[in-house]
Amino acid sequence: MLSYRHAFHAGNHADVLKHAVETLLLAQLRQKEKPFCYLDTHAGGGCYDLSGDWSQKKAEYQDGIARLWEERADWPELADYFSVIETLNEQTLRFYPGSPEVARHLTREQDRLALMELHNQEIEILRRHLGHDARTALHHRDGFEGLLGLLPPTPRRGMVLIDPPYELKEDYGRVVSTLQKALRKWPTGIYAVWYPILAAANDRSRDLLQACQERLVCPQLVAELQVAPQQAEWGMDGSGMLILNPPWQLDTQLESLLPRLRDRLAQHAAANSRVEWLVRPQ
Ligand SMILES: C[S@@+](CC[C@H](N)C(=O)[O-])C[C@H]1O[C@@H](n2cnc3c(N)ncnc32)[C@H](O)[C@@H]1O
Repeated sequence: MLSYRHAFHAGNHADVLKHAVETLLLAQLRQKEKPFCYLDTHAGGGCYDLSGDWSQKKAEYQDGIARLWEERADWPELADYFSVIETLNEQTLRFYPGSPEVARHLTREQDRLALMELHNQEIEILRRHLGHDARTALHHRDGFEGLLGLLPPTPRRGMVLIDPPYELKEDYGRVVSTLQKALRKWPTGIYAVWYPILAAANDRSRDLLQACQERLVCPQLVAELQVAPQQAEWGMDGSGMLILNPPWQLDTQLESLLPRLRDRLAQHAAANSRVEWLVRPQ
């Protein structure tokens, strides 16, 4: 039984980090004329109405995208990210793109998208938003298994976004075992994995990173944004992106972006960010 619905969290600090990294990766892939593919294992509904009941419940976007929206002209490094949001909105921020919508806008005629989503209602919402796009294949199935079934992809260059809800603890182990198998089938792919940094009692992010460092043979870059110090018992105080086979110069791009995002999205004086190689390129 899947209970997670992304509309409750759309546009929060974690989405800003994840989608900012996604736009930087897509920009790198667009630098060559050759087609590429975008695979999304946990696609969600594709687009979210921030004025809807679910998004309004905790209004998490207010401490995320809403803090940046009015000052978007000051973020040239995130021009692609804001251009997608601008296509969905007039002056007022109302609609927020999910990862598939970000990819739809930042890919070209020759590129291909494969989106996987397991939830019966989310896949219907996703169909409404992206079902008409001839470049896009939608799969109503488990994203971990689905990914392995699609590899190696056509075209052969491209990226995967892995963004599970982590409500089931198995998700952590499945991320690592799926990446191990995926790298065997497609060693040159770029893999971007989002993970939460939870309160200490529940946090598994250090174990996840350690397992990836020990078991995956490829360059690995980590970018983390903590908007508040880690609580003891409850809450999500930050999140991270683990990027396997990151493109050239992504590390320097993130080294300049992350401290700025930290300053703007901080919810506490002890907010923090880091960009580090878990495994350096040879
Ligand atoms: C964090 S949300 C995805 C958000 C989306 N990637 C974005 O950035 O807009 C996680 C999604 O994964 C779906 N999901 C949960 N388990 C799944 C599985 N095993 N395979 C595919 N989708 C799954 C959930 O229904 C939910 O829509």
